[in-house]
Amino acid sequence: MPSLRPLLSLCLLFPVILTGCNASAPNAAESPNALMTLKERYADFFLVGATADLESYITHSPLLKNHFSSMTTENAMKFEQLQNIEGEFTFETADNMINFARENGLSTRGHALVWHRQTPDWLFNNSDGKPVSKDELLSKMRAHITTVVSHFKGRIEAWDVVNEAIMDDGTMRTHTEEADDQKSAWYGIAGEEYIAEAFHTAHAADPKAKLFYNDYYNYIPARQQAIFNLLQTLLNQDVPVHGVGLQAHINTIPSNDPNHQSSQQSVKNLEKAIQLYASLGLEVHITEMDVSLYIGGFPYTEKDYYTEASIPESLKLKQAERYAAFFEMFRRNSDIIASVTLWGIADDNTWLSEFDSGRADFPLLFDTQHQPKKAFDAIMNF
Ligand code: G3I
Repeated sequence: MPSLRPLLSLCLLFPVILTGCNASAPNAAESPNALMTLKERYADFFLVGATADLESYITHSPLLKNHFSSMTTENAMKFEQLQNIEGEFTFETADNMINFARENGLSTRGHALVWHRQTPDWLFNNSDGKPVSKDELLSKMRAHITTVVSHFKGRIEAWDVVNEAIMDDGTMRTHTEEADDQKSAWYGIAGEEYIAEAFHTAHAADPKAKLFYNDYYNYIPARQQAIFNLLQTLLNQDVPVHGVGLQAHINTIPSNDPNHQSSQQSVKNLEKAIQLYASLGLEVHITEMDVSLYIGGFPYTEKDYYTEASIPESLKLKQAERYAAFFEMFRRNSDIIASVTLWGIADDNTWLSEFDSGRADFPLLFDTQHQPKKAFDAIMNF
């Protein structure tokens, strides 16, 4: 059923010009799903999650509690947050977040044990600045994973154990990538072996936790296949990997530059990845979904940046349609998708606005005032 919200807004603005607007026009509250929450609407399909950050789990707690059935920690469980100084673990914030989630009946995803970003310097380098040896690195990795996973044992349902180990062309992420923030010192020092070792260590620390490999741009064929190959190899080696996370940071309008990754962002391509990974017997989670208003790679200048007030209605509708199309596909595959998580709770707290300084983005289901957007209506009305 289409959303009533756009029609209602127009009715309020132009009641005389528009036909069909009268005192008895239906309002959103009369929509059969208007009183339902997101997690209720999706109870028969999959968990619906949101990522929360150091403060947003408090500032956005009504939305988290009402609408979501799962919570991921956005930054609070990354290496530098939990062990910024070697041997000194700081669990307080993550503990508070996980306690909040569990007290409110939310399933918990821990993110992310091993990643090339947000790591402290001591992990990869000795005090003289020289890289640590492979044995030293693997030993530090095992110590970190064992301490962290044991600490949260029984309180985290799913861990992103290894995050983003593959590049767009399907090769492994190495220490020789061009951009500094793309280099993987894990691979540079330890080679591919760190991946299997991370899963074995996490499994030993909490045998009941579900262990995930998490990555992005799964709709790019070379990446999609390389992730499949990696997972297949791990499974053939009896590595305890139980699931795969597909991030799904997408755009409202895919790029029409065939060389830009977002040109390949189609429902069909993502569905193919989901089904391919599930064919390995793995549980599938959509782990980091958001739908940016901007076209990837387009040379925007400051004057083109949207504010919440300047977003054209047509773009809001497009974003809603995009959410609807992907969620329709997720529902169609709900026998293999166990969880769909949004990377954020509401538009006032999104990494997309953090990153491109000065360029606000509005990629989520709730607006900056925590009110449901057209995108919310679009995934509720089916
Ligand atoms: O912790 C410092 C804080 O001390 C300082 O005051 C503040 C000032 O800017 O920066 C804080 O660190 C920031 C951190 O987020 C916590 O807010 C970093 O600068 C910032 O780079 C970091 O960004 C995070 C990003 O990962 C890092 O790569 C985003 O919030 C987070 O949403 C994003 O999440 C990743 C997933 O983990 C993996 N998949 C992609 C996704 C989006 O990039």
